[in-house]
Parts: sequence; C-alpha cells; structure tokens
Amino acid sequence: MKKVTFQELSQDYLNQLVKGAFLTVKHEGKVNAMTIGWGTLGYMWNRPIMMVPVRFSRYTHTLIHEAQSFTVSVPIAKDLKKALTLCGTKSGRELDKIDASGLTLAAPQSEAIETPVIAECELHIECKIVFKQAMDLSLLSDQIASSHYGDGDEHVLYYGEILAAYYTGE
Ligand SMILES: Cc1cc2nc3c(=O)[nH]c(=O)nc-3n(C[C@H](O)[C@H](O)[C@H](O)COP(=O)(O)O)c2cc1C
Repeated sequence: MKKVTFQELSQDYLNQLVKGAFLTVKHEGKVNAMTIGWGTLGYMWNRPIMMVPVRFSRYTHTLIHEAQSFTVSVPIAKDLKKALTLCGTKSGRELDKIDASGLTLAAPQSEAIETPVIAECELHIECKIVFKQAMDLSLLSDQIASSHYGDGDEHVLYYGEILAAYYTGE
C-alpha cells in the first residue's frame, strides 16, 4: 500500500473517471458497486472532498442514502472493462454484481469507514459522507436539465471527506 498525494490522485482519478470507476457502498451488511463516470474532486470546508452523483433510481441510492461512507476504486493498469460494464448496466437489486464480475472486496484502511474497496483496482479512495444534496432542477441550466433530466431522475450529490487515498498492488 502506498499513500497517494492529492496531485497524483487528481491526475489518475480524473484520467480514469471518464472511462469508469467503481463506487462501492455498504449499509446494514449489504455491499453494492456501481460504475460512475461523473464526479468532482477538490476542497471544501478546509477538507479534501470527493463528490459522487447518484441518480434516485439506482439501488446504490437506496444504500448510500442511509450510509455514513462510500469508497471509490479505480482501475489504473488492469483492464476491468467487463466488470465496469456489468456494474454500470445491471442493478444490485437483481444480482450480486461483485460476485458476478469476479471482483473481490478488501477491508478499508480507515477505521472510520465501513465500506470495503475493490481489491482488483490499484487506486482507492475512502470517504466519510459529510453532505448530500438532491439536485433542484429549477436551479440548473435549461439546456442541461432537458438534455440530462428529461425523465426527472435527478442525481443526489454525495460529498465525502477523503479519509484515505492509496495505491495497492505495486
Ligand atoms: C461508464 C458509466 C458511467 C456511469 N456513471 C454514472 C454516474 O455517475 N451516476 C449514476 O447515477 N449512474 C451512472 N451510471 C449508471 C449506473 O452505473 C447504472 O445505472 C447501474 O446499473 C446502477 O447500479 P445499481 O442499481 O446497482 O446502483 C454509469 C454507467 C456507466 C456504464
């Protein structure tokens, strides 16, 4: 395990995010991973913060809405395209996607985090949820509202304070 600097994190995370990363959540013993392609990374409230957007319709939302933490696992060198596609097209309501993808879970490093990380990925970010906000479409640009939310399935934005960020498998 190697701790990652914020600069390394920004570069490696943002490079891969557009291709997909795994957002994992655990609540009351249930663990689910879904693929994300959007999100932000920065500073708020004097803390390093990662924001992940989760639409109301996702099973992930059912879990994260009640959870205290989430983790994001990022493939850097390994080709996990098949797993990213499965976790981005099937719902955890229907199947255990981690098992079906042949992925395995690893314990988080931070004691304050209960959500595991995806062992096959090389970059891991562990976040404690400090703020969440459902999107108010009346405040969004009309163009984006109609292109992305025509069906009304808004995102809830989950802001996590980054408690640990590290590389594994090197
Ligand atoms: C490349 C890619 C990126 C995605 N990004 C997001 C995202 O940022 N937010 C979101 O809510 N859904 C996103 N999705 C869709 C979810 O991953 C998908 O609906 C998934 O099946 C939800 O799983 P769940 O019901 O188990 O939570 C993305 C899908 C793909 C393939």
